[in-house]
Amino acid sequence: MKPEFPHKDIIDPDQFSKKDLETILSTTEYLITLQKQNKTQNILKNYLMASLFFESSTRTRLSFETAMLRLGGQVISTVGFQFSSISKGETLYDTMKMIEAYADIAVIRHPVEGSSRIAASAVSIPIINAGDGAGHHPTQALLDLYTIYKEKGTIDGLKIAFIGDLKFGRTIHSLVKLLTHYDVEMVFISPIDLAIPEAYRKELKKKNIEFEETEDIKAFWDCDVAYVTRIQEERFVDKDEYERLKNSYVINKSLVLASKKNTLIMHPLPRVNELSTDVDDLPNAAYFRQARYGVDVRMALLCLCLKVELPDI
Ligand code: NCD
Repeated sequence: MKPEFPHKDIIDPDQFSKKDLETILSTTEYLITLQKQNKTQNILKNYLMASLFFESSTRTRLSFETAMLRLGGQVISTVGFQFSSISKGETLYDTMKMIEAYADIAVIRHPVEGSSRIAASAVSIPIINAGDGAGHHPTQALLDLYTIYKEKGTIDGLKIAFIGDLKFGRTIHSLVKLLTHYDVEMVFISPIDLAIPEAYRKELKKKNIEFEETEDIKAFWDCDVAYVTRIQEERFVDKDEYERLKNSYVINKSLVLASKKNTLIMHPLPRVNELSTDVDDLPNAAYFRQARYGVDVRMALLCLCLKVELPDI
């Protein structure tokens, strides 16, 4: 079985059609079944993945590496500029030219927006963007989409709230774009200074997607999903502004229990103090399951980008 997937790289959520999203969701389900049948260990047996993380990461890097190892592949990695030749002045282009000689696929996280596109244009191996500054984080958005589908049984017809740093939160930027392929309603809850950028508002209007913007945290109470995010400290030029905004919202158990729709609580993690630990034991706290689905979705993405044949179920 070889799913039809017209992309070599995963760079930007705009590259996906609705059909591509359906292929990613169904390939993820397929891989979950293959894992239960112990049939994934040889799928990427002769493949090597370079994991290039020039910005902090725990989940994204480890889940990609776990995904590769579960598929029988191998991993080489570099973490941080400090220990790579970029700190000696090497360009990303040169680094990528060399990586291409070593690996069959590369996953890259870099603080500069657009960096993964530059990386992809330098090489012929597949490149996966694992977060480029305040730009995009398409694989997180894909696992978020899968989480919504898996936990709610549908994506169409849902009302989805985004809470926190909507200005710098790249996971939000990418997920909003993917959700425009579905019949959803969106609610953006943030301080005015961290509102969703105008380009997204324009796109939603153009695509006739209903949305509202508010500072009132209670607006998530009638939503099916609340996607909570950390205020992105590292993106603030003015640290005083971060200090002023960092405690804008704290989602705690009593706020969640007041929701009328048993709202599913998601968070890409890491959390700081915007999501209280007393929410963790509620059944609608989906964030640790969400992180777990990340491995399954990334297994699917590695197989799709490398265009390998999957064993029959
Ligand atoms: C997110 C990121 O790196 O953008 N984390 C992740 O990949 N799970 C969210 C964040 O750092 O706030």
